[in-house]
Amino acid sequence: MGESGIESVLSENRTFSPPAVPGGKSPRWHLSSMEDYRREWKRSIDDPEGFWDEIAHELHWFSPWSRVLEWNLPDAKWFVGGTTNLCYNAVDRHVVSGHGEETAIIWEGEPVGPAGPEIRRLTYAQLQQEIARFANGLKSLGVAKGDVVTIYMGMVPELAIAMLACARIGAAHSVIFGGFSSQAIVDRVLDARSRVIVTCDGAWRRGKVVPLKANVDEACDVLASHGHTVTSVITLIRTANTVAMTPGRDHDWHALTGAASPDCPCEPLDSEQMLFLLYTSGSTGKPKGILHTTGGYMVHTYLTSKYVFNLHPDAGQVFWCTADCGWVTGHSYIVYGILPNRVPTLMYEGAPNYPAEDRFWDICARHKVTQFYTAPTAIRAFMKWGDHHPAQHDLSTLQVLGTVGEPINPEAWMWYRRHIGHDRCPIVDTWWQTETGGHMITPLPGVTPTKPGSCTLPFFGVDAAIVDDQGVEQPHKHGGLLVIRRPWPSMLRGIYGDRQRYIETYWSRVPGMYLAGDGAHRDSDGYFWIMGRIDDVINVSGHRLGTMEVESALVSHPGVAEAAVVGMPHEIKGTGIAAFVTLRPTHTPPDAAAAEKFKNTLAAHVAHEIGAIARPDMIRFTDALPKTRSGKIMRRLLRAIAAGEEKITQDTTTLEDFSILAKLREQDEA
Ligand code: PRX
Repeated sequence: MGESGIESVLSENRTFSPPAVPGGKSPRWHLSSMEDYRREWKRSIDDPEGFWDEIAHELHWFSPWSRVLEWNLPDAKWFVGGTTNLCYNAVDRHVVSGHGEETAIIWEGEPVGPAGPEIRRLTYAQLQQEIARFANGLKSLGVAKGDVVTIYMGMVPELAIAMLACARIGAAHSVIFGGFSSQAIVDRVLDARSRVIVTCDGAWRRGKVVPLKANVDEACDVLASHGHTVTSVITLIRTANTVAMTPGRDHDWHALTGAASPDCPCEPLDSEQMLFLLYTSGSTGKPKGILHTTGGYMVHTYLTSKYVFNLHPDAGQVFWCTADCGWVTGHSYIVYGILPNRVPTLMYEGAPNYPAEDRFWDICARHKVTQFYTAPTAIRAFMKWGDHHPAQHDLSTLQVLGTVGEPINPEAWMWYRRHIGHDRCPIVDTWWQTETGGHMITPLPGVTPTKPGSCTLPFFGVDAAIVDDQGVEQPHKHGGLLVIRRPWPSMLRGIYGDRQRYIETYWSRVPGMYLAGDGAHRDSDGYFWIMGRIDDVINVSGHRLGTMEVESALVSHPGVAEAAVVGMPHEIKGTGIAAFVTLRPTHTPPDAAAAEKFKNTLAAHVAHEIGAIARPDMIRFTDALPKTRSGKIMRRLLRAIAAGEEKITQDTTTLEDFSILAKLREQDEA
């Protein structure tokens, strides 16, 4: 794979058969054998419309669809003409069927007082009321179907309530991760032309308060200077952080909902009604608003939740996904896919190591968590913190373990299996993306034999393949581009306001196929192994960052002339951020101590511009960057240098100035 430089270096031969009988008090697996899986998968590919038609009937629709799928590449419409409501299926449906008193959401706050942490349990009936009140509150502020509501909150139940309230009335939400900076709010609010922001006074994170409302205020001021007015800001008081309230614009969550009626019927919405925008990084500077719609997304996330995590109502299960709702994982597998399955979903507010490094295991034990879904970066942190932390808690209720966000290194996989799953819980390594909406390639627990580091085989209805640039399927063991060859229900419907970018990013490189942007190969059993991104996106702690975004943040500092950012191996994050920076003469540090100080200033500047997640792990000052004669920065060369590779094996024939390479290498040795 010359161009994208994908080489498979992993060689992993261990295979784990699925446990024949689920561990603990686990209910039966949904499928009983690999033949079941293969038969169902084949049916879903041979007759996708028949397959998805049947599944969609498991959920409530106000009026039926006339066609399951209308496909005009690259535009898919699913359940055409049908009307439904995702909030109804997640909440009201369970109240109507007599399950209103069962727990829908279990929430645990971060601070731990003398009486333990604060815990809230919301039943479906309570959730329905809270959502309806907030939905009415939104309506009273003029929010209507099709409007985009921005949500920038900590992990509190009200975050899920705000999302579901939007879904209830047909407004779209754009959730911004609470770890992002005010500049990130500005970019996303402007792009979405959003006029309403829902936030908290602050969010608890590792014992400290993140000032969310202050960030929103700062963003609103900048937005005003761009001529964009935010008309309403709704603030939930969570941390008793002092906040400024602007009269006329700012509303207190409880004052707004207290005055609102708890009666707000779910709006019957067209299956293709926009459900949410979620901004994610791409190769170019500006984050893109990935657009998802209602019906197909609902059906796909419902079905994947059910099969991949083996969910069964009435079986005493407690599902916990440790993601933040600011990422797609939180959208699909805390809220939208899980609630329609009528299994309680657990939300935890804070950090995994607060007040101590066993917090997650403490939560698992106290709440008798049965499904646990996290990221490889977290697993690597747990490994580092020590085996004794999980060992001192009762993890016997666990049934299925999941991982998502980046390729998991086999060592971390083995540790997860042994120390968390006690060698009896299947691990589901789920490959998917913000764009795919739901799981695409994943084992099915109890059925798929697993191999550490492989996401195994496609889910029902998913036609995944490894191809070359011409779309020719590659023989097994050959690296290539991961593509999806036919539409699936939860696929993105576009990039908000940028049709051209949608077509160019996903549908142009390989004609007629969806380009995932990952390199991958299949082994002799046909199992998929993801090798990493093929574009200028780096996956830091399982979260996507465009190298361009970090570069623009760096050059926005007056001392920086030019910057190149690449990924580098990082023990915990998987990929860390390495920045090569050329400084303006005015800012050249006089000595080594001043240089170190300035590196810290620049790292803090990036964190302020984008968020702490983008803070570079290594900054190196250089007189010039290695470029080709046509002026292109040679990133592969920088990647090798950042990785501390002994010998540069890259082709350097196009390098313009060889002395740069020598200088960069010298720094390595210094
Ligand atoms: O590179 C793949 C990696 O994460 C990318 C998608 O990132 P994002 O849209 O932020 O969504 C993350 C959560 C779904 C993919 O292109 N990725 C995600 N899951 C896996 C993975 N790489 C390997 N194995 C996975 N299980």
